[in-house]
Amino acid sequence: MGSSANGFAGDRMSTSNGGGGVDKGVDFANYFCTYAFLYHQKEMLSDRVRMDAYFNSIFKNKTHFLGKTVLDVGTGSGILAIWSAQAGARKVYAVEATKMAEHARELVKANNLQDVVEVIEGSIEDITLPEKVDVIISEWMGYFLLRESMFDSVICARDRWLKPTGVMYPSRARMWLAPIRSGLGDKKMNDYEGSMDDWRYFLNETKNYYGVDMSCLTKPYSEEQKKYYLRTSLWNNLHPNQVIGTAAMIKEMDCLTVTVEEILSVEASISSTITGDDTRLCGFAGWFDVHFQGNKESPAEEEVELTTAPSQDHTTHWGQQVFLLHPPSRVQQGDIVNIDFSMIRSKENHRLMEVELGCEIAPSSSKPLAPFKSKYYIE
Ligand SMILES: C[S@@+](CC[C@H](N)C(=O)[O-])C[C@H]1O[C@@H](n2cnc3c(N)ncnc32)[C@H](O)[C@@H]1O
Repeated sequence: MGSSANGFAGDRMSTSNGGGGVDKGVDFANYFCTYAFLYHQKEMLSDRVRMDAYFNSIFKNKTHFLGKTVLDVGTGSGILAIWSAQAGARKVYAVEATKMAEHARELVKANNLQDVVEVIEGSIEDITLPEKVDVIISEWMGYFLLRESMFDSVICARDRWLKPTGVMYPSRARMWLAPIRSGLGDKKMNDYEGSMDDWRYFLNETKNYYGVDMSCLTKPYSEEQKKYYLRTSLWNNLHPNQVIGTAAMIKEMDCLTVTVEEILSVEASISSTITGDDTRLCGFAGWFDVHFQGNKESPAEEEVELTTAPSQDHTTHWGQQVFLLHPPSRVQQGDIVNIDFSMIRSKENHRLMEVELGCEIAPSSSKPLAPFKSKYYIE
């Protein structure tokens, strides 16, 4: 498991070309390493929403696989490659950067598919295939879709190895944002205040016992703690009744045509109408969905959707990313919330994201309130 401040693993990797000048060794040590653990692969293999979506997308659209060549980008345990072969693929190239490739090879053999599935250990950016493929399948999605920047690697594979008539699995991806209510903001503010109380106690002790006044470090310490407690987005599986306004789409991607350039940043100006009555706007939740639709020439027989939206019955390991407002605002049904959203990659680590949310609340019965802006880190 990764070390995300959010909870779940986090490190779901790639040797991306999108970050420019990425040190592969550092990337491997910080990121790829977690995927080499069966423990981490099991987390993903146990996500029923994820598994059912990929399983159905393959077996309800067997014509895309029957007698075809398939490339599985980041095969991990090999599950998607195995399903592709079981659906009748002629040949499956299963590429995996980590030593998990050895387990995948074992699993393929145990399922008697070694004549169809070829597991290749290496980064997708570095390996060479003997032919172009009909289908690229990959599970590349990180928190809020783009964290981890693994989609760069899938785009690289597509541009190198997909036939002009080829199909992407998944074929479309969308990002969503919606206003929410949550008790998490109060908790995080308490945690922050508690950490500052502790700091003041520490200052006193250090001065009294060791004769050094450290109070000049109060400001940077407070900033560090604020970033950690108040400005880092949180992983959460929200109940749908915590969503208090209409969800707005902030990005849509056609996996067949989108470029790395187009996913380096996400910018959107959106509006949401408050649907909850006399409630607290505590922040915003971001999630994604992907669709398996085939392509124009060869549409899916049965389209499948994988959504990570708040749901009472179907939670995923991705959950939602929550961006908290401090303090929350009182809102009424019919109020409009205008949001300027922007997300870029962190300069220090191209797999992490920085978000800026500009927000203006326009009450249905009075003048708009003063706009405000907040910055967040998806770590
Ligand atoms: C989210 S996991 C999915 C694993 C498996 N396909 C599944 O669905 O259970 C992504 C996998 O892609 C691999 N990966 C990420 N970037 C890669 C790259 N550039 N080249 C090869 N493998 C990569 C990771 O090591 C990891 O095992």
